[in-house]
Amino acid sequence: MNRDGKGQRGVVIAGVGSYLPERILTNADLTKIVDTSDEWIRTRTGISERRIARDDQAASDLAAEASRHALTMAGLAAEDVEMIVVATVTPDMVFPNTACFVQKHIGARKAFCFDLEAACSGFLYSLETARQFVASGTVKNALVIGAEKLSCVLDWQDRTTCVLFGDGAGAVVLKPTTTGHGILGTVMGSDGTLAELLTIPGGGSRTPVSAQSMADRMHYMKMAGKDVFKHAVRCMTDAAQQVLARCGLSADDVTCVIPHQANMRIVQAVSDRLGIGTDRFCINLDRVGNMSAASVPVALDEAVRANRFKAGDRLLFVTFGGGFTWGATLVEWGV
Ligand code: UT7
Repeated sequence: MNRDGKGQRGVVIAGVGSYLPERILTNADLTKIVDTSDEWIRTRTGISERRIARDDQAASDLAAEASRHALTMAGLAAEDVEMIVVATVTPDMVFPNTACFVQKHIGARKAFCFDLEAACSGFLYSLETARQFVASGTVKNALVIGAEKLSCVLDWQDRTTCVLFGDGAGAVVLKPTTTGHGILGTVMGSDGTLAELLTIPGGGSRTPVSAQSMADRMHYMKMAGKDVFKHAVRCMTDAAQQVLARCGLSADDVTCVIPHQANMRIVQAVSDRLGIGTDRFCINLDRVGNMSAASVPVALDEAVRANRFKAGDRLLFVTFGGGFTWGATLVEWGV
């Protein structure tokens, strides 16, 4: 029974995995590309380096690597996967969906597959979507992935964005449970009135690709950083407090917060407002930058591989991204 008390099955994270491309781009490397400095990037964001995928790697290739690790940990054969959801803003193609390419790469013949786009909140939205399929008994398991090759949508002439992001993928396997562990609750929110503050404006039906759209650099990410920062702190704090209240828990009950990894100053501000010290946060943005939908599952996997959690620990995922979209999920660790 899940804690929402709606008669659904409980759902656990039975496996996690991640993949980071080998190539490291340091802040020093970036000073040769744009007018920036290691000092500015580290003090304004907390980022020292990020990973960049190879030209021959698309989001589905990163996703497949992460998925294989998650399936191994969960003891689930790829051919038994029933559902694949990929959260990404950098799909392999406009269509078909990236999840179908992952299906092909790993050989998950029985799965139905779709992508979910909620920018940096995409993994959390996908996790809750898949949880509902498993909880209702529609599927016996689900593979949920956040995968991004953001390096191919960054404007390498725009120092206000290109220093912030990196490539990578993280994946989890969901299974039903009767142990009482697992996903305790989720809150999600959106505000489309602020959609224009963080976009890739070109390449869709509003502004199709054309010589003009490319000359105007519309196919690259645009961000009003200061505005995004302000809303991120507010929405992440509110979402975290709401999910705790919904689950009848307080900040003291949280073992570890796994936040979206956009900026160390955002993490610090959320930590201060929640009254949860950053020593109880899983932070990897110094090494990987902002990986949008991949941020939370990669940080989760690194913490799991470092044996940071034991059964019964309470993990709080909290995200914010373009849309705007945001959300928070509470998980009681264990299978
Ligand atoms: O994942 C989705 C959510 N995304 C986020 O949450 C990102 C939120 N925003 C941020 O993290 C921060 O707003 C940024 C890191 C993007 C920018 O930090 P900031 O403290 O808000 O800086 P700013 O935009 O106010 O810029 C301050 C100065 C400006 O120069 P002037 O106008 O004061 O002369 C910028 O031109 O820093 C300059 N600047 C840079 N200088 C060196 C901006 N980018 C750079 C850079 N290197 N890379």
